[in-house]
Amino acid sequence: MKTQVAIIGAGPSGLLLGQLLQRQGIDNVILERKSGEYVLSRIRAGVLEQGMVDLLREAGVDERMDVEGLPHDGVELAFDNRRVRVDLAGLTGGKSVMVYGQTEVTRDLMAAREAVGGITLYEVDNVQPHDLETDSPDAKPYITFEKDGETHRLDCDYVAGCDGFHGVSRRSIPEGRIKEFERVYPFGWLGMLSDTPPVADELIYARHERGFALCSMRSAQRSRYYIQVALDEKVEGWSDERFWDELKRRLPEETAQALVTGPSIEKSIAPLRSFVVEPMQYGRLFLVGDAAHIVPPTGAKGLNLAASDVNTLYRLMVKVFKEGRTDLIPRYSDTCLKRIWKAERFSWWMTSMLHKFSDEDDFNSRMQQAELDYVTSSEAGLTTIAENYVGLPYESLE
Ligand code: APR
Ligand code: PHB
Repeated sequence: MKTQVAIIGAGPSGLLLGQLLQRQGIDNVILERKSGEYVLSRIRAGVLEQGMVDLLREAGVDERMDVEGLPHDGVELAFDNRRVRVDLAGLTGGKSVMVYGQTEVTRDLMAAREAVGGITLYEVDNVQPHDLETDSPDAKPYITFEKDGETHRLDCDYVAGCDGFHGVSRRSIPEGRIKEFERVYPFGWLGMLSDTPPVADELIYARHERGFALCSMRSAQRSRYYIQVALDEKVEGWSDERFWDELKRRLPEETAQALVTGPSIEKSIAPLRSFVVEPMQYGRLFLVGDAAHIVPPTGAKGLNLAASDVNTLYRLMVKVFKEGRTDLIPRYSDTCLKRIWKAERFSWWMTSMLHKFSDEDDFNSRMQQAELDYVTSSEAGLTTIAENYVGLPYESLE
């Protein structure tokens, strides 16, 4: 088998890149370890920046998003038993975000790929890239993988490593050629999905002595809530009743009273981590999305960063294949990282300001209170949150 761009991973990064390339006539094949149903069963993020919305439009995947997505031009911070609105649109000259689940984005991208006859091979094992970098500039890489017990070979010009944090792509880069930066936080998020109306029209990020809480949504009838939990907590220890009780205790009283509870559809615990690898390329391999970086979810940046990497790699591939601009290839990593580090900073900062770090650190607790009080009472402070939350501009390659 032969293609121009071999894409490893059919998460949002791989599928969006594949669709954009397909529309430019650039041939690509996606190799995915799991089944399509499994990929769609993962409940992930739900906030799309304008840049990602625009990119989905460019990929021709906007029809259902325009009907079912919820445009939000504000977001709220809750602390000290009160709520403060961050007027995203007012503070950023009219920018907003779209609340539309990653699961739905993935579903739409899969359908679009099928409609144009793009090839995705699901349930492939032992994906292994070879000859990513050689002494000869003309030598090309290839990928070996197993499907239904047989070994296959996919020859290609470039490899897009869209296989998430635990994928094989980053691990294929020799040690010593990349540097990893990491911070692991001493807590996780317990998320719950329920068919109940959201407690408010906009998302609420809440700081409380008992820990962080987030009220989010998927539609007018479906809510997504999160609470900060210790890393050793197990989902089984959290009955629906216990979850709702704890959530209510962390919200302002009026908000807690307005909360409509009901049975959960899904519950899961995720650890929080900041992670970046530099550089994001090695020879003819480009790392994209979670394969290269992780942010804690507090800034809603994970999915959006994946989209901005895709934007960069897509435009690079178009220039390479249509204009022969191979001179731009070394620019990929730096172009992505410029934006990534700023999103890392915002996600780390939101996480630091809103979570409980320890029982003992009263000084830290007062610093968090003062910081929240300051940023929410200053136009400059609110603007800082707003412009980062709606998403900083995409970087260009040239
Ligand atoms: N071979 C083939 N596929 C693989 C391999 C492998 N060795 N390892 C992982 N994969 C697949 C996973 O099964 C998954 O479907 O790669 C895909 C990676 O998808 P994601 O983890 O979703 O990563 P990405 O597409 O970069 O999406 C960005 O944004 O909201 C955040 O973390 C969230 O998923 C989200 C991410
Ligand atoms: C979600 O709806 O799942 C969600 C929203 C905002 C975040 C994180 C997750 O910051």
